[in-house]
Order: sequence, then structure tokens, then C-alpha cells
Amino acid sequence: MSLLALIKGTRGASGFGFASTAEDVTAGIDLSGKVALVTGANSGLGKETARVLALRGAHVLTVARSMDKAVAAAEALPKATPIACELSEPSSVQAAVASVRALGMPIDILVCNAGIMALPKLEQKYGYELQFFTNHIGHFILTTGLLESLSEEARVVVLSSYGHKLASKGIELDNLSGEANYAAWRAYGRSKLCNLLFAVELARRFEGTGRTANAVHPGVIRTNLGRHMHPAVNFMYAATDVFFTKNEAQGAATSCFVASHPSLRAVSGNYFADSNVARASGYGRDAQLAKDLWQASEAIAKKFETKAS
Ligand SMILES: NC(=O)c1ccc[n+]([C@@H]2O[C@H](COP(=O)([O-])OP(=O)(O)OC[C@H]3O[C@@H](n4cnc5c(N)ncnc54)[C@H](OP(=O)(O)O)[C@@H]3O)[C@@H](O)[C@H]2O)c1
Repeated sequence: MSLLALIKGTRGASGFGFASTAEDVTAGIDLSGKVALVTGANSGLGKETARVLALRGAHVLTVARSMDKAVAAAEALPKATPIACELSEPSSVQAAVASVRALGMPIDILVCNAGIMALPKLEQKYGYELQFFTNHIGHFILTTGLLESLSEEARVVVLSSYGHKLASKGIELDNLSGEANYAAWRAYGRSKLCNLLFAVELARRFEGTGRTANAVHPGVIRTNLGRHMHPAVNFMYAATDVFFTKNEAQGAATSCFVASHPSLRAVSGNYFADSNVARASGYGRDAQLAKDLWQASEAIAKKFETKAS
């Protein structure tokens, strides 16, 4: 057996590993009667996550940037409801929260999946760096707005990334505008560190309840996420494809595993990769930083609540 096959065939304590697919990790799991909300359900990993959760019986709320995209995603599934949500526009996120609440369906699985990566130049929304604002603040407003709609044993799954380790200076709470020394990958890493720490602090807040929150690294998968990448990086990706990339079926596995596997009923506050618990960076394990980020995020969210009312 080649070294490559050996690495790809490796399985961890869960019995799953790099090559496991979302269908593999959910085999035999019955999600009938459950409601799952997936952001970015129209593309890449979110689309596959939604497909497999639906395959196992869940009613999926397909959340996408526009109603057209959300409807198209819903139409591909047996039981689904489309929800429009532009994550970088707080009023759109608030409207999505209101729509979900109005459905009156307790949410059992909330997958904060949508995201953008490595914008080559600094882009901002309301003065905040756009990856931070979209990937983290959008999901912060959505999730905190839906806390009362979560079922008693709800699981929140937040898509982070191994890339959180690129946040070499941590969150930089004094640089949320991104204006100080903008670097595309560090800014992406910072947003993914925020996603990770959001799950850490949410898990702490869920302690004593039946709810859980965890973060995942899905692997490296060639999806639309790479649309902003330099062609040379895309070429490198393609050239090294066989070594470390997964396909979308494998890329959605860790999210689906954490969202539904019975062995994780009481597992919370962890970071997963290849459907196993993994080790996050020092910043990613910093409980105080997670609290500080929550406080800063709450203050940002509040500004937009005031504007809306
Ligand atoms: N692929 C990887 O190698 C990899 C590695 C580590 C982590 N991840 C994480 O996995 C998640 C899914 O990525 P993917 O690879 O599946 O990428 P993708 O195919 O580009 O999907 C991203 C999804 O996010 C949505 N989205 C982007 N900006 C949005 C906004 N402002 N409002 C609402 N929705 C928005 C996209 O909508 P549109 O289609 O309308 O743009 C799309 O549905 C991301 O959080 C990413 O950081 C991916």
C-alpha cells in the first residue's frame, strides 16, 4: 500500500477518518422528525451537508444569500424550506431569524457553514473587515437570534478551518476594521478563529443544558470558496490534488458527523477534523479570548439592533 493510501485510509478513535464520506458517517442514523438549518446550502459543502441530512430524514431549512438560491437548494431535497439570508447584511440576517421563528419549528441542528475566503484586497462592510463580518458576525447574529428556537438537544456546528492557525496575531480585537496590515490569508484565518471561538463560548453558555456547540475543519476541498484565490494558488491546488484534498462527499463528513452522530450527544466545545476530535491552536483554545470575542460581537450586533428598531 502506498504512503498516500495509508494516510487517506487512516481512521481515528471515532472509526472514521480522512476518506469517510457524509453518507458513511451518518449510515444508520435516523433524522426523521428533526429540523436542520444549513447556511450556504446552495453550494459546495453546505449543499452536500443539506443533501445528506435530508437523506437521513431531516427537514432542512436551506439558507442562502438570495431567495432564488435558497429555493433552488430546497427544490433538490425531499423536505425543505428556503430562507434568504445575506450574512453581511444584519437586516437580512434579522429577517431570516424572524422567518425561521415564524415557522415555529424547533431547530435540532444548526450548521453555520457559509463563508468567503482570502479576499485579495481589504473589503469592508459597515467599517468591519468583510470576512470577519460575513463569516463570524453574520453567524453570530443568526445563531444568537435563534437561541430560543433551538430544541433541548440541539447541536450547533460551526465551520471553522485548519486555516484558523493562520491568525498569527489572534483575533486582533483592536483591528476589526482590518485596516492595520491587511493580509488576505491572515484575515481569513482570523475569521475562522472567530468561528472556532464562537463555538467554544457558545458551548460554555450551553453547559447544564442538553445543547452542544462544536467547530469543524472540513478538510481541503476544491469548491467555489477558491474563487478569490490567485490562479497560481489554484494551479498548486490542482497539481497537489491527490495528496491532500477531499471531494465534497468527504468534505461534508465532519459537519454531518458532529451534527448527528449518537456518540456525540454530550460532546461540546470541541474542534473536529476528519470526524475526530482535533487540536486547535493556542488561540483556538483560549477561553478568555472566546469570552472577549463574544462581548465584542454582542456590541457589534447591538448597533444594528438599534438601527433596525
Ligand atoms: N473548501 C475548503 O477547502 C474549506 C476548508 C476549510 C474550511 N472551509 C469552510 O467551509 C465552509 C463552506 O465552504 P465551501 O468550501 O463549501 O465554499 P462554497 O462552495 O464557496 O460555499 C460557500 C457558501 O457560502 C455562501 N456565502 C458566501 N458569502 C455569503 C454571504 N455574504 N451571505 C450568505 N451566504 C454567503 C455562498 O453563497 P453564494 O454561492 O451565493 O456565493 C455559498 O453558499 C466555509 O465556511 C469555509 O470557510 C472550507
